[in-house]
Amino acid sequence: MFSIQVPSPLQRFYPDWPNAERYQLYVKRDDLIHPVISGNKWRKLAAPILQFAQHRPSRVASFGGGYSNHIHALAYCCWQLQIPLTVFIRGDYTGNETPMLKDIVTWQAEIVYLNKVDYQRRTETEFINQLSAQYDIDVVIPEGGSQQQCFAGMQSLADEFNRPIDALILPVASGGTLAGLSVAKHSTIDQLHGIAMLKGADYVDKLVADLIDKRKHSDYTIWHDFHHGGYAKVTDELAHFCQRHSAQLNLPLEPVYSGKALHAMQQLVSRGQFATGATLVFLHTGGLQGAR
Ligand SMILES: Cc1ncc(COP(=O)(O)O)c(C=O)c1O
Repeated sequence: MFSIQVPSPLQRFYPDWPNAERYQLYVKRDDLIHPVISGNKWRKLAAPILQFAQHRPSRVASFGGGYSNHIHALAYCCWQLQIPLTVFIRGDYTGNETPMLKDIVTWQAEIVYLNKVDYQRRTETEFINQLSAQYDIDVVIPEGGSQQQCFAGMQSLADEFNRPIDALILPVASGGTLAGLSVAKHSTIDQLHGIAMLKGADYVDKLVADLIDKRKHSDYTIWHDFHHGGYAKVTDELAHFCQRHSAQLNLPLEPVYSGKALHAMQQLVSRGQFATGATLVFLHTGGLQGAR
């Protein structure tokens, strides 16, 4: 249906970080899975999209910000499958559309701007029912595509590791990627280290915990001190880090997810967080369109 390139490559990389020589460092290039449905987007959307292809919904809907990678990937998938899509966007970009919004207009998505107060109600059943009735929506995918249905895609990601990994390091925002890997994790991955991209430890911890049975899957760590001031906040240090590492490592990075998480990995490596000799893998979750 789509030209999806899996398994994604696992590439060795050699950064000039303090202590880097103590570890075997790899990057899992999920950003190369597809030019639009890249990174964790394909992993999260694979199961719902394959289901839509078989049992076509009359209209799909989802929620996201004006730069959302999830909305971008979902709109592309729905357009390819000719399934009507409505997206509820946080804030009003009328007359000031982002490149993401311009793309999804060409992919025939219906855009509804919600003010911040209404957007905060995006997980309330009553609000979702009201929107579903108003816009004739059949299926609602939560913000970021984070729902238990995305776990199958995370299992397929975990299955691609055919050598022991001591730690997998990845960005966390709406929680589905870490939650899914925590549930799917099998014998090859020892530790999962999620790097929170947003401020608010309780909020991020709860997003992940709410998706899983915490009693069975508490074996992950979420780091809360690498968000650079909050979601999509970019310090000069982070911007410089992204530029330098994109060039040095020949690895596309943007500051909202991949660059921020790799910067956190640098900090953890430099301070000797992991046992000497460990194999550490950075999960590149894509999202490069958001940086246009
Ligand atoms: C490119 C990218 N990486 C990582 C994440 C964070 O993943 P999650 O929302 O599943 O925690 C997102 C947001 O969904 C994203 O767009």
